[in-house]
Amino acid sequence: SARDNIPVPRGLPILGNILDIQDEVPIYGLERLFDIHGPIVNFNILGRQRLMVGNVALLSEICDEKRFWKTPSDALDSLRDNPDDAAGLFTASSENEMDWQLAHRILTPAFGPLSIQQMFDEMYDISTQMVLKFARLGPSYRIPVTSDFTRLTLDTIALCAMDHRFNSFYQDDLDPFVDAMNNTLSASSDRLKFGSMVRKMLPWDKSNEMIKKDNDYMRKVAMELVQIRRENPTEKRDLLNAMINGVDPKTGQKMSDKLISANMTTFLIAGHETTSGLLSFAFLFLLKNPSAYFKAQAEVDRVIGRGKMEPTHLKDLKYIDAILRETLRLCPTAPAFVRSIRKDNPNDVEELAGGKYAVHRDDKVLCVITKAQRDPAVYGEDANEFRPERMLDENFNKLPQHAWKPFGTGVRACIGRAFAWQEAQMAVAMLLQSFNFRLDDPAYEMKVKQTLTIKPEGFYMRATLREGIS
Ligand code: HEM
Repeated sequence: SARDNIPVPRGLPILGNILDIQDEVPIYGLERLFDIHGPIVNFNILGRQRLMVGNVALLSEICDEKRFWKTPSDALDSLRDNPDDAAGLFTASSENEMDWQLAHRILTPAFGPLSIQQMFDEMYDISTQMVLKFARLGPSYRIPVTSDFTRLTLDTIALCAMDHRFNSFYQDDLDPFVDAMNNTLSASSDRLKFGSMVRKMLPWDKSNEMIKKDNDYMRKVAMELVQIRRENPTEKRDLLNAMINGVDPKTGQKMSDKLISANMTTFLIAGHETTSGLLSFAFLFLLKNPSAYFKAQAEVDRVIGRGKMEPTHLKDLKYIDAILRETLRLCPTAPAFVRSIRKDNPNDVEELAGGKYAVHRDDKVLCVITKAQRDPAVYGEDANEFRPERMLDENFNKLPQHAWKPFGTGVRACIGRAFAWQEAQMAVAMLLQSFNFRLDDPAYEMKVKQTLTIKPEGFYMRATLREGIS
């Protein structure tokens, strides 16, 4: 049958293909399976069958909202261990879930372009803290790129979402909330690692308890922030007020405190690692591609000059847009998402590629965008190269609809896209405006670290104030 046409890589009894993803970067293991078997693969982890697709043609079919929808991945489960917890937008099982519908309808306008523009000053506030830090510490400061960008993105989302300041730029250690969050995130990707699976079977293993402890801590912090706001109401138009005051236009319902804090945690998690990874990869690509670097800096000088950056500048940063898009094409910081046949789709089998392959009702299909976004059929023979020009508006707008999916797809696509974009544009522009950057170690080559997201590891740079900047 068409299902049997999907290649099944040879695996171990019971364990299946687990060894194929024991790479330090599991996604590389999956990419190798595509290289060997082609754009669709049926693999097996401990008896769980998974399909995965890795080219644009198949990805486009799986993105068809009439046939398929999002299904949370195995890895996301550990972000939602307690079934009594309310579901945040990200981890909700499907768009049928009431928690998702209510939060989605109330939050969509709060993440719209207008609301995001109103967050400009707060984003600027945090970006300025970063610029000041680099300026004060000077060229002798070995910038730990991902940590400093994590300080930026975490402080930005906390300030814009709930008027809370983590003040990460004034502390050596990352906030305990970030520690708890990172622990849960690496625990979720560890679930697929052989060593951690074995460890979990040992009677003295504490990892589940630790995850629970971290989850409880995050939930507690979020709940406290909701309560503090209820006791001290403000007029602020942040996401927390949008959730507390928002009324669902369809049902007239409001969000419960539990649902609000679940989404608050979701924003803090979904809202910072991905953006910090994007900025880190973008700077690494710039430092490895001097001509792109100079074009970006020239654009900043032309559009903003030496003065203060204003909201009106954002729409003119076309080359920086292209850099960010090209960065997310090669290094999509959320490297995959999972879909399955919709519950309300009457077909138990969906054919792909004109009947060549088939997806069955129970299949979960992993959309590996790190691979699909390098599809030579769409991006050409230089698909693996960083070339921002291919992402300038005139080219970007001509791409096939599903060729670039770093923010996911359909109704379950990223709600924070405009937020992340404005934040990233601003950070790149303000940094290029003030500093000249160089690699700390000119021989550094990209090394990827994967938790739920990917980011460069061991990447340091140095910043020197540009002439005329004080
Ligand atoms: C969903 C990527 C920034 C909040 C998603 C999805 C992707 C994604 C791929 C879909 C996941 C899936 O299908 O399972 C990214 C990237 C970002 C980014 C690459 C930055 C460069 C943000 C920010 C926020 C955010 C800044 C919040 C402020 C969310 C939420 C969802 C989501 C709440 C779930 C939406 C739903 O299912 O209704 N993101 N994201 N993201 N993202 Fe983002």
